[in-house]
Amino acid sequence: MALYLKQRYGKTALVAGASEGLGAAFAEYLAAEDLDLVLIARRLQPLHQLADRLKEKYKVDVTCISCDLGDQNSTKKIKAVLTDRSVNILVYNAAISYIGPFLENPPENHNHAARVNMITPLNMVHYFGNKMLARNKGAIILMTSMAGMQGSGYLSVYAATKAFLRILAESLWFEWRKSGVDIIGCCAGATSTPGYINSDPAETGFFTPRVIPPEKVVKLCFHNLGKRPSFITGRGNIIASVIMHRLMPKKMAVNIMGKTTRKMYRL
Ligand SMILES: NC(=O)c1ccc[n+]([C@@H]2O[C@H](COP(=O)([O-])OP(=O)(O)OC[C@H]3O[C@@H](n4cnc5c(N)ncnc54)[C@H](OP(=O)(O)O)[C@@H]3O)[C@@H](O)[C@H]2O)c1
Repeated sequence: MALYLKQRYGKTALVAGASEGLGAAFAEYLAAEDLDLVLIARRLQPLHQLADRLKEKYKVDVTCISCDLGDQNSTKKIKAVLTDRSVNILVYNAAISYIGPFLENPPENHNHAARVNMITPLNMVHYFGNKMLARNKGAIILMTSMAGMQGSGYLSVYAATKAFLRILAESLWFEWRKSGVDIIGCCAGATSTPGYINSDPAETGFFTPRVIPPEKVVKLCFHNLGKRPSFITGRGNIIASVIMHRLMPKKMAVNIMGKTTRKMYRL
């Protein structure tokens, strides 16, 4: 498998939402595959720290771009920085999640989350996907979530945007399956990132999610890329999904999800 990604897709990968957690794990995995990197997040300092470490360790080229992916012009801004530089692998990892009752957040917050989680990845997939298709070569990973597999009370907008991304990935997998461009939706369950740990989830008994490390999620993404339209991370999550989505009525699955979230976040 050594340097397989570079041979198959090309030499540059862009990770949107790369400053920590899963995005940083994606960046490290790709650097270890000898890919040059474009790393995007709002905070430049952690991006530069990561970039310096990866440049030193793997001798790859790393470009950092500070950008709020919730800005309406974010894709234009990224295009302007990259000019005509090719992106061969796109990982859209950034996301915003507001936990709590829908009406307790003003619509501006929900709109911003919808742009970060849904509109900007749509624009980036359109722009970079178009170029990849013209070269008959490329890969796109969209980070989605188990929360988007059914209605998820108290995570309503986050869950809805994650459902959108999964369906987008699955749909384009079909459209592009013979083009040489691979696209996959990664439905992650609880992953031990700073974002998840800082959300301070409480134990909820039987339904407490089994947390897995970000490096394992990243490995699973590349293992499944090109093989299926979307996948669920970890055996525990796969089993939970079979129970909730094949064996239970929808109402029961939505109830379990909402009650578990309420308990996890002491709402
Ligand atoms: N961790 C989990 O348990 C879990 C479970 C299911 C799915 N996922 C999915 O996996 C992905 C990564 O999760 P994570 O836990 O690693 O997230 P995280 O720790 O919150 O990190 C998100 C990354 O995105 C960047 N980001 C956030 N908002 C941004 C914005 N407006 N513009 C630009 N960059 C932005 C952050 O950097 P800056 O703050 O510097 O901008 C950070 O690098 C997300 O798509 C999430 O939905 C995670």
